[in-house]
This record gives sequence, structure tokens and C-alpha cells, in this order.
Amino acid sequence: MSDETGREWWRSATIYQVYPRSFADSTGNGTGDLPGITNHLTDLHDLGIDAIWLSPFQTSPQKDAGYDVSNYCDVDPLFGTMHDFEVLLNRAHELGIRVLVDLVPNHSSDAHPLFQAALASTPGSPERAMYMFREGTGEHGELPPNNWESVFGGPAWTRVTNPDGTLGQWYLHLFDSSQPDFDWTNPRVHDFFLDVLRFWLDKGVDGFRVDVAHGLTKEADLPDFRRDAEYWTTPAELRPPCPFFGHPGVHPIYREWRALIDSYPGDRILCAEAFVEPLTKMAEWVRPDEMHQAFNFPFLVTRWEGEKVRGVINASLDAFGAVGAPSTWVLSNHDQIRHATRLAIDPRSYTGDRITGIGPKTEPKPDPVEGLRRARAASAMMLALPGCAYIYNGEELGLPEAMDIPDEFRQDPTFARTNGKAYGRDGCRVPIPWAADAPAFGFNDSGKTWLPQPAEYRDFARDAQTGVSGSTLELYKRALRIRREFRLGLGHLSWIEGMGENVLAFANGDVSVVANYSDKPVALPAGEIILDTTANGEPDASQGTLAPSTTVWMRRS
Ligand code: GLC
Repeated sequence: MSDETGREWWRSATIYQVYPRSFADSTGNGTGDLPGITNHLTDLHDLGIDAIWLSPFQTSPQKDAGYDVSNYCDVDPLFGTMHDFEVLLNRAHELGIRVLVDLVPNHSSDAHPLFQAALASTPGSPERAMYMFREGTGEHGELPPNNWESVFGGPAWTRVTNPDGTLGQWYLHLFDSSQPDFDWTNPRVHDFFLDVLRFWLDKGVDGFRVDVAHGLTKEADLPDFRRDAEYWTTPAELRPPCPFFGHPGVHPIYREWRALIDSYPGDRILCAEAFVEPLTKMAEWVRPDEMHQAFNFPFLVTRWEGEKVRGVINASLDAFGAVGAPSTWVLSNHDQIRHATRLAIDPRSYTGDRITGIGPKTEPKPDPVEGLRRARAASAMMLALPGCAYIYNGEELGLPEAMDIPDEFRQDPTFARTNGKAYGRDGCRVPIPWAADAPAFGFNDSGKTWLPQPAEYRDFARDAQTGVSGSTLELYKRALRIRREFRLGLGHLSWIEGMGENVLAFANGDVSVVANYSDKPVALPAGEIILDTTANGEPDASQGTLAPSTTVWMRRS
């Protein structure tokens, strides 16, 4: 969807995240690939999305599912070839689907030639200056340079062995030890990534989703992170600044990128993964000369509570509106528990830490029926909001998190780095089902999958939902069609009061939306219902009553 002039499509678009390893596998080796995506582009076209974002398919040892890149300008053989990418891009463009690729600038893989050169060089060399090497502390440098911890658990520093066998400096890795952080104070790092951006822009991509866009620069001298037990429960605006996330030094980088991207024809975009709070701070990433979009994570993490959802929507529209940016709504991605499960999680069973994950031993177990009801209602709520919305592959099928993955299959580095204390993110990354009665539910022909699929995924297969009234797939298709027709992404929200406790209602153009977050049915005003998330067999909203955990869209007369 774009504005009257056809420009700035990204303000109101629906963008679909493809997780290549789990989308569709054309070779039968168990991992999805680029030809698999191309084969299914018409399904995405039928769904009614405007663009896709591809999680990394570039060359990588796959220690963090491709977020450890060893060649930024090539395709990993696991996913195909550069020719396969070009075919995908052309086909998508033929169908009117734009294509965003993932850019991982905070760190490379330790297998990247630049890091290998750094290891082979001496302290103080230009090769080491591409990354964050520091001397250790303690009497003999045996302690890390500071107290920072990896997001995946364990220390954020690893000590290297010098070419002569002696112990040497330490390097920083905010994520896995196989993901060394670049030193963005070094102009050569800027030049390197400008070339990477040019490479993909020249290929014709429509933009980039920028990984860890809140992390590239760090506070000078790398001070300890003074974080006490109350840190995460302290309101974001009162927390002491984090020395490695949310540092203001990142902004000149994005201005440099924006100038480059604007020098290309077309309407190409940058979307930030900037995990910073509060929303007023996140909005700094989308000022007019920086990025176009930033995922609204405060919206994503909000629990199933109407007033909290209303609060975060208001805060988002205010904060992004103040800098002239759209809000970029999102409910699921490859790092988060799928929202068909997450929205029914009892807070007692989950610490709320984003990569803790849930698994076989999590108690109490989230109720899958209630989870799906809430997910459908939440998605219908999201897709009626003004701004851009991202959908994560499988959510249009209502897929739940795969909770019962046996330990030996788990691949997220979080699981190993916490000695199994955190399950990690594998449960939202399981290959998605296409056909109920085919091997691997139609993910491929061989039946092999890189993570085991739960038997219940059969019920969620695309072919079992296509054309079935009331299915989650048809609900998404209808929502996207109406969203486009009524230009909801470009609209304005005004709240409608008085619908009852824990019931949210708003008008957006010619559509009004009512979402029931309470556990009681509520009376609906008279009017034509144009979308209804009620599950089959429930009292029907057309009878004038909205069941709990349900959303309707109505045409305003
Ligand atoms: C981002 C990615 C996540 C990855 C991490 C390190 O948060 O979304 O999947 O593990 O960055 O690159």
C-alpha cells in the first residue's frame, strides 16, 4: 500500500518475514532455501502482503542461524546460489512484492576473513582495529576487560591465543563467541559496510532490515555495566544507560546510510532492530534523515491486557508521530515465542527475558486454544492500526510455539551457553507446514527437517486452511484485503470509549474495531461486521455479542 502518489509505501505496508531455513526446502536436505521461497511467492501474493524481509542467507558457518556472516556479498550454499537470489528477486518484483534483506553490521562471523586476519596479526595492527580487541585485566591479563555479558549468556569476551601459542588479547562479542563485534569508531568499518550496502542496492533490493541497530557503537573506554537486580523492573527512563546498547554514536552511521540509499532510484528503506526503551528513545532511530522504520518491540512484549495495549499504542503513535515516522507493529519474529503461545503464557512460568524461551518442562503450560484465540484477536487488532505491520512466517497459519523439542535437537546458542537453563528460540523457528498429508507437512519431499516438527502442525497446514471459512489463513487474507481497501495503514486512530472494562474500541477511517480483552462477552453496537476473529462454534458476533478474546471490524455508517 502506498500514499496517493505511490511513494512511501513503507508507511502503511504489510511486510512478511521469511525465515529461509524454515520456509520451504526445494532440495530435501532438511533446510529451507531460496528456490523454495521462489516456488511459494504466489502464495504470499495471494495472502496480500506488500514486501518480504529475508532473514540472512549470506555465507555463514550457521553458528547463530546465519546471523554470523562470513561473506556479506554471497549466498550460503545451504540456501542456494546468487543466481537463485536473482531469480527470487525478479519473480518477487514481477508479482509486485518488494524484497528486504538482512544486514548484520554489529558483528561478523569469526570465520570472516577480516577476523581471521585480525587473529593472525599483532595487537595494535590495522587488522585488529577492525574489531574490539582489548588487553585483559588482572595481574597477567587473565581477566576480561570489563563485566559485560553476552546476550546469549556467559561472558561477552573471549581471550585469543597468539600465533606463537601464548595467550593474548580479548575480543568483544555481545552475542556468541563466534560473533566478534566490529569497531565502528574505525572509518574502515564504515567503508566496508557502505560497500556491502551498495552491493545489494546494485542488485536491486528494496531495502534492509538492520540487525542489532542499537549496538554498533559503545561507550568510550568500555565501562562496566552497572546493573543491579532491579534493573529490568526499573522504568526504562530511570535506568542507568547501558554502555553497549542504545549509544547515540550509532546515529551518524544511519545518516550516512540514508544518504546512500536515497541516492538510489526507487523507494528503498532501512528498518531498525533497535531494542531500546522507552519508545521516545526508539523514535530517534527513525528521525527523518535516519531509518524509515523501527520494529515496535514494546508493543510486541505487551501482555494480554487491554489497558496496557491501549497505553503502548498511544505511546507509540505519540513517539513515532513526533518524528514524522510510522509505527512499525509486530507480534512475532524468529527471536520471540510465537504469539499464539506467548499471549497465553502465565507470567509465573516465564521470566520475560526475551530469549529465555519455553520448553517441555515449562509449567504451567500455556493453553493452546486460548492462545490461538488471543493471537487471532491481537493480529486483527494490529492489522487495523495505522502504520506498517510485519508478519512472521507461520503466524498467518496460527502456528503455536514448538515447545517439545528434545534437548539434543536444540541449536540456538543460548541453550548451550546457559547449560540448558534457557531453552532459547528454536521453538519459533521450526519448519512451517504447507500440506497436511505430505512428508514434513509439505516443507519438502524428503521428510527431513533441521528441527523436528510437532505432530500438531498437521492441523495448521496451509492446504488444510485454504478456502476454509474461519481458518486463521483466511482471516489474515481478509484482514489484509480490507486493510488495503480501506487504507487503514494510512489512517488515524481515535478511541471509542464506554465499551466496557478491558475492551478496546477505536475508529480508523470507515472502520471501527472492537477487541475484547476481558473474560466476559460484551454487547456490540449495531452495524455491519466485516471481520470477525470468533472461532468456529462460538456465539457469533453477528448476534450482537463479542465473545472474550475476540476482535471484530465493523463498517462505520
Ligand atoms: C538479532 C537477531 C537474532 C540474532 C542476534 C545476533 O537480535 O534477530 O536472531 O541472534 O541479533 O545477530
